[in-house]
Amino acid sequence: MLFSLKSLSSAMALLPLVVANIQDIQTRDNTIERRLVEPVIAINPTDANFGISAVAPGRFVTSADGTKIFAEARGNPSKPAIVFIHGFGIGAMAFNEIFDDPDWLSQAYMVRYDTRGHGRSDKPTTAAAWVSQRLAEDFDAVVQSYNLNKPFVLGWSIGGTHIADILSFHPPSYISGIIYDAAVPDTASLFNVGAPGAIALVPSLIQTTNVTQFQEAYIDFINLCHPALEWNFYLACLGDGVVQPRAATALLLARTQNSTGLLQAGTSGALPLLAIFGADDKVVIKQASLDAIPGWQRLTVVTLPDAEHFTWISRPVLFRTTVLQWISQNA
Ligand SMILES: *[C@@H]1O[C@H](CO)[C@@H](O)[C@H](O)[C@H]1NC(C)=O
Ligand SMILES: *[C@@H]1O[C@H](CO)[C@@H](O)[C@H](O)[C@H]1NC(C)=O
Repeated sequence: MLFSLKSLSSAMALLPLVVANIQDIQTRDNTIERRLVEPVIAINPTDANFGISAVAPGRFVTSADGTKIFAEARGNPSKPAIVFIHGFGIGAMAFNEIFDDPDWLSQAYMVRYDTRGHGRSDKPTTAAAWVSQRLAEDFDAVVQSYNLNKPFVLGWSIGGTHIADILSFHPPSYISGIIYDAAVPDTASLFNVGAPGAIALVPSLIQTTNVTQFQEAYIDFINLCHPALEWNFYLACLGDGVVQPRAATALLLARTQNSTGLLQAGTSGALPLLAIFGADDKVVIKQASLDAIPGWQRLTVVTLPDAEHFTWISRPVLFRTTVLQWISQNA
């Protein structure tokens, strides 16, 4: 009896690690629908991930240089695939509100990953780990692991730069289209596209001698992204800053890339691009972002009224319908 209770409780302790990747989700009209979500896995503390120890739904994919990238898929696999690439400091959890939204889950197959140096992924601090091709290979590992065929790619903020990496090493036909959400198109334009208030924080964010200065700057940065985040989410944003080695922060802000592939994909008409901006964004300058992609042929620009840098948190329904309608026209 004692033995079986013990094995029952250890089986229950293991339960979150073995649940099938199907979840019942209550939609806004109170029906229950089945959606694909990833099983929960353990994230073990290693030097490569800066000691992170946690559990989360998702999987590790291995990039070409051995870096472990944490990725997660949710939604309806029969719908168009969208890979979401997060911005500075805050990892893939930035998109929680989208990945928990039944209307998004029913209309898209959504994949997100912590880019190297962020969240649950490995955080290399050598210059070799931050050359453009390595970041393109991280995306490739995610695409291969989920068998994605020509996904749409959404880059938020500095996450937009990853699309320039991808198009340096692949033809435009590798993806179906680009969604820039308050995006920095390439690393060369970073310090033009970043608003002065955000750029002013950079020295405080990469220095390693004054903890107070780092704390204040990172809190300021999250406040600039949105001034009224729900508290638990706010803490999660702050936490993703804490799990990043400052050396990785410095490398990701200093890295360079070749934008030729990106720009040719636009001027040739090969790829459609939806550029979304928040009218109240305090992190990114809209015109500077558009100036970084001159001559883009198939360009749709949408500015969301009353939207902060966290555009989809400011205007969740408008953001969702803007993206999904554009995808349905370009899928
Ligand atoms: C550390 O940074 C804080 C906030 O910017 C500043 O007030 C303080 O003087 C700094 N301390 C040192 C020792 O520089
Ligand atoms: C950038 O890539 C293009 C090809 O896409 C190549 O012709 C050019 O030489 C590259 N520029 C640099 C600086 O490597």
